[in-house]
Amino acid sequence: MLKVICVCGARPNFMKIAPLMRVFRESGRMQPILVHTGQHYDERMSRLFFRDLGIPAPDVDLEVGSGSHAVQTAEVMKRFEPLCLEHRPDWVIVVGDVNSTIACALVAAKLGIRVAHVEAGLRSFDRSMPEEINRVLTDAISDLLFVTEPSGVENLRREGVPEERVHLVGNVMIDTLLANRERAAASTILQDLGLRRRGYDLVTLHRPSNVDDSAALGPILDALLEVAGVRDVVFPIHPRTRKNLAAFGFEERIGRQSRIRLIEPQGYLDFLKLMSDAHAVLTDSGGVQEETTILGVPCLTLRHNTERPITLTEGTNRLVAPTKQGILDALAAVDGAAGAAPRMPILWDGRAAERIREVLLSAGARS
Ligand code: UD1
Ligand code: UDP
Repeated sequence: MLKVICVCGARPNFMKIAPLMRVFRESGRMQPILVHTGQHYDERMSRLFFRDLGIPAPDVDLEVGSGSHAVQTAEVMKRFEPLCLEHRPDWVIVVGDVNSTIACALVAAKLGIRVAHVEAGLRSFDRSMPEEINRVLTDAISDLLFVTEPSGVENLRREGVPEERVHLVGNVMIDTLLANRERAAASTILQDLGLRRRGYDLVTLHRPSNVDDSAALGPILDALLEVAGVRDVVFPIHPRTRKNLAAFGFEERIGRQSRIRLIEPQGYLDFLKLMSDAHAVLTDSGGVQEETTILGVPCLTLRHNTERPITLTEGTNRLVAPTKQGILDALAAVDGAAGAAPRMPILWDGRAAERIREVLLSAGARS
């Protein structure tokens, strides 16, 4: 039996770990141990996804909670190390680019335990993003690098990663989307919120560059207030953003516009339904850029760069300057354009987790 520790910690990790846990358990040749670091811990940022996606309860919860980058990363490392020593797994599997990803990869690599990174090779080339640092470092110490799009293979080649470690396997986040699309179609969230199909824009924001500075967040909210003059705006609020809206005194300002629906973070199925039926999605999320490509829904990414360029070249994504005019112009362009068609970048076919399992099985146990 191949013993693998699978790590998850923050919201976007849950969609990625779900199909991996399923195919590992089904194989009968692997013994997956699920570790939740506790980086995200609110019911609506964590447990809800275990229910929606049928992820087994974590075998261990490290309960690290929030903190500065150094504190959070160090806490994960301190609590993860004894677990690795106890279990001595053949592999530690980390996904994505959050602090839990680099923390657990670093612990494993230093103990001589092999590390597999799922969603390797993505680069925004913007080191002011904490995620970019996590990506570069995790890839540098991983033994197997599972890549979602060809740009990732190129980036790793340029960084000198030996070719035999790199596998273009597709996108586990899209495995989850395709597996849950029908269930999401049955969500009643539109009726619950009194929304019409294509009659609203959906917004998610949580990047520090957009939400940690009132001079950045203010103009985005001004744009949303204007959009709400013509269309409903549905805004499930990430806890980081909720905290800042209150701290900057913006809550009341947008609370006065009843067509801006400030709602709690949504579960996966309700959020997938909200994305599928939106007029457009405005976001700074990584995963949402990929999901809207498959759904064929216009995505305006309020950032100057993306680590997922395939969503621009083959998908429905567009980079938009996060200014009031930038956002309003981009939305006007959506209205002027023909409807977007769903796309399927190479290997985004719902079988990425199976490919990862096969590579792991053939790499085998520790010699
Ligand atoms: C983290 C990831 C980011 C990812 C995002 C997905 C890092 C460096 N950042 O950002 O890459 O895109 O998750 O959502 O790993 N909080 C709560 N409840 C929770 C979790 C967080 O209230 O369950 C609040 C706390 O005040 C916390 C803040 O949100 O300080 C930020 O949480 P943190 O995990 O540090 O970063 P995110 O912004 O969530
Ligand atoms: N998501 C969700 N509910 C929400 C907002 C997002 O289920 O209210 C999902 C979204 O569909 C995607 C994932 O969360 O699967 C993306 O996570 P997030 O934006 O927090 O992180 P990022 O991808 O930017 O790292």
